[in-house]
Amino acid sequence: MRPACRLARKILDLVCDFVRPGVTTLQIDQYASDLIRKHGAKSAFLGYRVGSRVYPCHICISPNEQIVHGLADSTVLEYGDVVSLDVGVVLNGFIGDNARTVPVGGCDTEKQNLLDVTETALKRGIEKARPGARLSEVSGAIQQWVESHGFFIVREFVGHGVGRRLHEPPQIPNFVDGKKSPKLRPGMTLAIEPMVNAGTAEVKFMEDGWTVIAADRKPSAHFEHTILVTDGEPEILTVPED
Ligand code: MF3
Ligand code: CO
Repeated sequence: MRPACRLARKILDLVCDFVRPGVTTLQIDQYASDLIRKHGAKSAFLGYRVGSRVYPCHICISPNEQIVHGLADSTVLEYGDVVSLDVGVVLNGFIGDNARTVPVGGCDTEKQNLLDVTETALKRGIEKARPGARLSEVSGAIQQWVESHGFFIVREFVGHGVGRRLHEPPQIPNFVDGKKSPKLRPGMTLAIEPMVNAGTAEVKFMEDGWTVIAADRKPSAHFEHTILVTDGEPEILTVPED
């Protein structure tokens, strides 16, 4: 898992650097596609099936009110937008998955605060991923941080186990649902990914069958790491290579 996750991180970093005012989301997806291929990997998302729907892009690019699973098209990113980039790659049969929301050029302090709170929520969730802990401790830490800052957790989508397949058990909600939650054990690899809305928890699906947006069209943020549960501190696998 380590090489796949480090590559997913490297590509996410490069893609984030590529984001600037005037670029289209299709140009970003094409850039990501070239990078993934040059590194001998494949997109974990292209061709992903949900029922009869097939995901048509190499990475997920979700500007502003788009929460996740945005589709690359002729949309031009503008100064002050925020955009969520989600990169999953398959390398030697293993999958690394990570995501980040970045400003385009720059953004106002309200949007920056949404990004900071979501990133910190992820960090606080990861810190709870210790052996013997329940997964609900991870979920609860994320929920508590987000809601205490006045933002809204998206409930329709969750994090997941990840390994040879993109979505493996367990599901990792970013809220506590009262269901009995599994105990964490060393060796588990988990994709933890809070999706946080500025104005409402309510989501809508666009006609394309993939793109999920905030019902009030206010901004949304998404941060994700793949981590390994160890005997002690969690190891973030989607780290820069040294
Ligand atoms: N990081 C997201 C996830 O793990 C991306 C999935 S995009 C899809 O669910 F196309 F594969 F659905
Ligand atoms: Co994921």
